[in-house]
Amino acid sequence: MGKVDILLGLQWGDEGKGKVVDVLTPHYNVIARFQGGPNAGHSLEFNNIKHVLHTIPSGVFHPGCLNLIGNGVVIDPIILADEIHSLEKLGVNLKKSLKISKKAHLILPSHRELDAASEAAKGKGKIGSTLKGIGPTYMDKTGRNGLRVGDILLPDFKDRYNFLKNKHKEILRQYNYSSNIEQHEEEWFKGIDVLRQYDLIDSEYEINSYIKQGKKVLAEGAQGSLLDIDFGSYPFVTSSNTICAGACTGLGMAPHAVGEVYGIFKAYCTRVGSGPFPTELDNGIGEKMRKIGVEYGATTGRPRRCGWLDLVALKYAIMLNGVTQLIMTKPDVLDSFETIKVAVAYRVNGIETDRLPYDINTPIEPVYREFKGWMTDISGFKSDSDLPDELMAYVQFIEQETGVPVKIISVGPNRDETIVRE
Ligand code: GDP
Ligand code: IMO
Ligand code: MG
Repeated sequence: MGKVDILLGLQWGDEGKGKVVDVLTPHYNVIARFQGGPNAGHSLEFNNIKHVLHTIPSGVFHPGCLNLIGNGVVIDPIILADEIHSLEKLGVNLKKSLKISKKAHLILPSHRELDAASEAAKGKGKIGSTLKGIGPTYMDKTGRNGLRVGDILLPDFKDRYNFLKNKHKEILRQYNYSSNIEQHEEEWFKGIDVLRQYDLIDSEYEINSYIKQGKKVLAEGAQGSLLDIDFGSYPFVTSSNTICAGACTGLGMAPHAVGEVYGIFKAYCTRVGSGPFPTELDNGIGEKMRKIGVEYGATTGRPRRCGWLDLVALKYAIMLNGVTQLIMTKPDVLDSFETIKVAVAYRVNGIETDRLPYDINTPIEPVYREFKGWMTDISGFKSDSDLPDELMAYVQFIEQETGVPVKIISVGPNRDETIVRE
């Protein structure tokens, strides 16, 4: 029996999942996305070209690897068709290497309008959604109104589409939101035609048969644990379970099939969109991180908020996911920082705590521990024995505090800029 390893983000997304999945793919037969949708932007770089994937798993650049979009994912046919076309232009043949679950839900043009209407109605309290229609699509899924990929094969698909669209129009009228859904319909149905050319499958059977055959499967998370619908800073979260358990429901595999859980985190923190961020640096230091780390959303281009590493939040994410190996990315961004801080506790109402408070409006004052910066350009380093002592002290402190080994250190966006520790 094989196991399914899971790689997921431990912060607020954009930890570098795409890059590391691409690096690990040669060890796997299958890469499977299990939740989220085109709100994700997963970047990978090789041969000096940067690719950004939104719905397609990050294994696509390795011939021979199968890429699966699981039932837990929500798909916008317009965006998926776009992604497929750009990959085909690069010579990536997806007809053989991409399979899509029939049970994945479809994002309609009206879901995107509903997302925009809901955000506009919230005003200052908006989530800062990527406006890809994620929330409304998952609402229709749990509300038992959604359209699934398998429905596109039914003779009355168009009727089902119109029924749901009209329902959405009613809601948009209540929002008093003027929209033009029809302008996107032609492209959307073209996207549906593209989807029809792919292998639409009962992916739960497929995954379990891979497990039985002893094939190696890597489940690729999207977003991050602190954006999880249950455990993130609700309501400033996404609408799916981004944690490890989401891989079981999002792929149809049993918990005992879970193997390694790779938890990926940046050497500092970023967050895009609204919501609490205790270690945020709304100052020159944060700006320096943004500039050096090129911290702009891969999906929306919005500047990412930046701040110090938050161990209280990191430990929480490790607990929720049962992380067995840590992967640290982007320490190279801190190469020119003389002092590096890490939040080791929070002070809430004058009391020190190592827990995240329930009420997200509670003011949190981080308790920091300071580290000496390494002040060395580490981007070309190939082995951890080359890494400066100050950086290793930082890594060892994180390992000590979390009780989990840091197995990979990524020192640049390129595939080659990756140190796997023995
Ligand atoms: P994902 O959503 O988790 O896949 O992450 P994103 O692709 O949205 O954001 C990560 C960004 O950091 C991308 O621009 C990557 O190219 C880049 N990146 C990944 N790892 C490293 C690293 O170790 N160092 C640097 N400097 N950049 C990295
Ligand atoms: P990857 O997979 C970072 C954020 C949005 C917003 C909140 C809800 O690239 O790490 P949504 O569109 O889901 O309704 O937005 O979640 N968000 C992300 N932030 N990386 C992502 O994905 C994100 N996907 C959603 O900015 O705050
Ligand atoms: Mg991203």
